[in-house]
Amino acid sequence: MKIVAIVGSLRRDSLNRQLAEAAGRELAGIDPSIDYSILDWSQVPVLNQDIEHPAPEAVGAARAEVASADGIWFFTPEYNHFFPGGLKNLVDWLSRPQSDGSPQVLAGKPAAISGITPGMSGTGLAQDHLVTLLSFLNMRIMNQPRLTIPSGFSLVKDGRLELGESQPRLATQAAAFVAFLGR
Ligand SMILES: Cc1cc2nc3c(=O)[nH]c(=O)nc-3n(C[C@H](O)[C@H](O)[C@H](O)COP(=O)(O)O)c2cc1C
Repeated sequence: MKIVAIVGSLRRDSLNRQLAEAAGRELAGIDPSIDYSILDWSQVPVLNQDIEHPAPEAVGAARAEVASADGIWFFTPEYNHFFPGGLKNLVDWLSRPQSDGSPQVLAGKPAAISGITPGMSGTGLAQDHLVTLLSFLNMRIMNQPRLTIPSGFSLVKDGRLELGESQPRLATQAAAFVAFLGR
């Protein structure tokens, strides 16, 4: 089983990236054979239809990673009660038919959604918007459980995220997503 994580932040100390790393450890505890990786989309350019074909190398690589996955686990920050524009740009690239005419890579793909934020919403608003986008693209979304973690900076100790009471919620979501992929 292959799961690709998409983190909506490129920030060096990203809370969401650290959450994605913690998710990988949970998945390994469930089944060490799960192939889990965090997508590197740092080189994906701003979408401009003038450069759509042939797809830029970083876009082709991202599409190939997503296409080969059994499921996609999104980890989104919340920017202005929305998910970040960089994540929208990446999904827009993924949503386009490929240069060889094959269909977009997100359709039918199972998706889980999590997020952590310093604010009180825990990314719930951003996640709702992301659900709208991913639904339009025909992803098969696991709507429950979703994971929202508020007050994220209070969970950082010596620069590292320590999930504390949220750890079991992450474990529950990881197990639910593995079961969801098996259905
Ligand atoms: C443009 C911008 C808008 C933001 N808006 C929100 C917001 O609406 N709600 C919130 O809880 N945090 C907001 N934040 C704070 C981010 O959630 C915080 O920087 C978080 O750590 C980003 O995720 P990351 O740690 O994975 O990079 C905003 C940050 C930026 C840069």
